[in-house]
Amino acid sequence: EKKGIAENKAEIIVCKNNFHGRTTTIISFSNDEDARKNFGPYTAGFIKIEYDNLEALETALKSSHNIAGFLVEPIQGEAGVYVPSEGYLAKAKALCEKYDVLFIADEVQTGIARTGKLLAVDYENITPDILILGKALSGGVYPVSAVLANNIIMNVIKPGQHGSTFGGNPLAAAVAIAALEVIKEEDLAKNAEQLGNLFRNEIQKLVDSNSLIKKVRGKGLLNAIIINDSEDSSTAWDICLKLRDNGLLAKPTHGNIIRFAPPLVMNEEQLLDCVSIIKKTFKEF
Ligand SMILES: Cc1ncc(COP(=O)(O)O)c(C=O)c1O
Repeated sequence: EKKGIAENKAEIIVCKNNFHGRTTTIISFSNDEDARKNFGPYTAGFIKIEYDNLEALETALKSSHNIAGFLVEPIQGEAGVYVPSEGYLAKAKALCEKYDVLFIADEVQTGIARTGKLLAVDYENITPDILILGKALSGGVYPVSAVLANNIIMNVIKPGQHGSTFGGNPLAAAVAIAALEVIKEEDLAKNAEQLGNLFRNEIQKLVDSNSLIKKVRGKGLLNAIIINDSEDSSTAWDICLKLRDNGLLAKPTHGNIIRFAPPLVMNEEQLLDCVSIIKKTFKEF
């Protein structure tokens, strides 16, 4: 309405291999058949483009006046911790501004200190028009999620138009405030940044010396290792079972990728302990 898009004609640009949850609308634009299959009929109105591809974004933005938003994960977590090229998010935001389209960042996984800054978009000094948070917002102990936007966007929804039984729950709000205080007081963003660098340096040594592991990537304490086997092999899962036997819980995101997203309160000694379990497991495998 604000942009002059005809009723029910608005479209949102999303990225291939996204993961934004499991509601019907969200899985309508997923390309993960595990999440999608048999859950239709699907919601229309989404244009899917390559992640980390500014040309594809501009082509899509130019393609229609009906585009209202671009929804993106600053790092594609579930897809395997895909970190986009430096500058991608800032340039994508600038393109959205140019074409009068809202830049919507899903920081459910990357947000609240996980990647070494309060938000992953802080690395590129941008402010999304709409920001989606969850998970660490409550320290992981209580179901809290949030959508943040400035009044110019928020006020499009009039009081009473939108609601849910447990929305705005006072206990949840208190838990989220307490969790945010801990993040700030204990400088957990810095902790994630430092321990993340240490983790990737240590695991890189393993990459250099063990042919079973191809690559380590990530930011802060959101990392993944790529196993040197096909995507449909069970090797990553089998390694995770061995990791479990050796005292560390991790799980493949997809196929041959194992993600590590440990508690943000962990210290250096604990991190090195995890690294030695990973090294031992790979040596034994
Ligand atoms: C980036 C991202 N968005 C959304 C979600 C879905 O969150 P919820 O399970 O709270 O609906 C997840 C869950 O893993 C996620 O990683």
